[in-house]
Amino acid sequence: MKNNRTISQWGCYFLVLSMFMITGCAKDEIPEVKKTTTPTPTPADTIVPLKTLFGKMFPIGAAVASNQVLSSAIQYNTLRKHFSSITPENCMKPDAIERVKGVFTWAEADRIVAFAQANNMKVRGHCLTWHSQTPDWMFYDENGALLSKEVALKQLKEYITAVVSRYKGKIYAWDVVNEALSDWTPDANDMYRKDSPWYKICGDASYIDSAFVYAHRADPNAKLFYNDYNEIYGWKRNKIYNLVKGLKDRGIPIHGLGMQAHWNVGFSENDIRTTLDLYKTLGVDLQLTELDLSVYKSDTDASSTVYTTAFSESQELAYPKLFKIIADYKSYITGVTFWGVADDYTWLDKSDRKAFPFLLNTNHQPKKAYGAVQKMIKAL
Ligand code: G3I
Repeated sequence: MKNNRTISQWGCYFLVLSMFMITGCAKDEIPEVKKTTTPTPTPADTIVPLKTLFGKMFPIGAAVASNQVLSSAIQYNTLRKHFSSITPENCMKPDAIERVKGVFTWAEADRIVAFAQANNMKVRGHCLTWHSQTPDWMFYDENGALLSKEVALKQLKEYITAVVSRYKGKIYAWDVVNEALSDWTPDANDMYRKDSPWYKICGDASYIDSAFVYAHRADPNAKLFYNDYNEIYGWKRNKIYNLVKGLKDRGIPIHGLGMQAHWNVGFSENDIRTTLDLYKTLGVDLQLTELDLSVYKSDTDASSTVYTTAFSESQELAYPKLFKIIADYKSYITGVTFWGVADDYTWLDKSDRKAFPFLLNTNHQPKKAYGAVQKMIKAL
């Protein structure tokens, strides 16, 4: 027994001694355990602003709420430092511009456009025709009945003409029609979102053609986009392709396809490349219009309000992988816009679940993922 204990004691001493020799550490300097929170950002002084980093490829944009631009110095400075394009997140939607028929509210949209002009930024207009965030008077009469196609399209024409004309020469690209296609079915015959009041009023999707024609007449130089989400999944990818191809074949003035790019760190490279390979054959500008890369791969991932090391590491891998793909298609991609500015505000956030989807952290400092993207782009 005595002997055994002595042998095991010697065994322990030997183990500690070998760890010391291998690691070169004293016993109380055991290598740091992986931290679970607050990874250090990329040092600011090594950072190239996004608009410089991507300057030779495309404008790099952010969606903003006008109150952010106006009331927050940090937002104002970040936008000016990093972005060469801007998209109003909500204030150019129909329910913001003309909530009451005949009463136009331009103030917020004007402010954003003025801010962009003063800072040499491009503006993407978002959005002219949508089933959501559209006032009832565009769809229903005073009794709540759907309008006739004739009345609804006349109103749509007046609305689009008013908005596009006001910003003629100031807004270079418009999302003319947003999210008109049906989801979650691969059936090519089930192409359109049939519960959209626009579809119900027209009995078909002819309002899409009309919207593009109205916008083109109001500003013949503006680039006109169809914009949608779930674009990288087979069932939707093909519908979007067919829609844009059909518009082009019919001579409708469409110049671009907006891929919203609401993705997450688990995106499939193959899905994105397959999509870009298909869309590049359309002969229109391709833009990522609403990019965010949530740290959650699915709704069932555990929620957090803290940016953990695990989140940081996943974005450090995912973001350069994504921008490498984008860079590979740079001759087709004419713009990339994040659907927000920095992790302090995103439409994805809930009180108990923050999505941390951007390259700038909640303090607007470059995340590690930013450094990784910069390194990858510089090495190209
Ligand atoms: O304006 C009202 C305000 O009067 C009210 O007090 C407040 C209370 O909740 O709500 C305000 O409206 C909100 C609006 O954003 C403006 O802040 C709506 O509730 C809210 O639902 C709305 O969300 C927007 C969403 O579109 C609506 O569908 C998001 O901010 C905006 O990021 C999001 O953007 C869409 C794109 O337009 C199209 N692609 C998908 C993308 C994400 O959903």
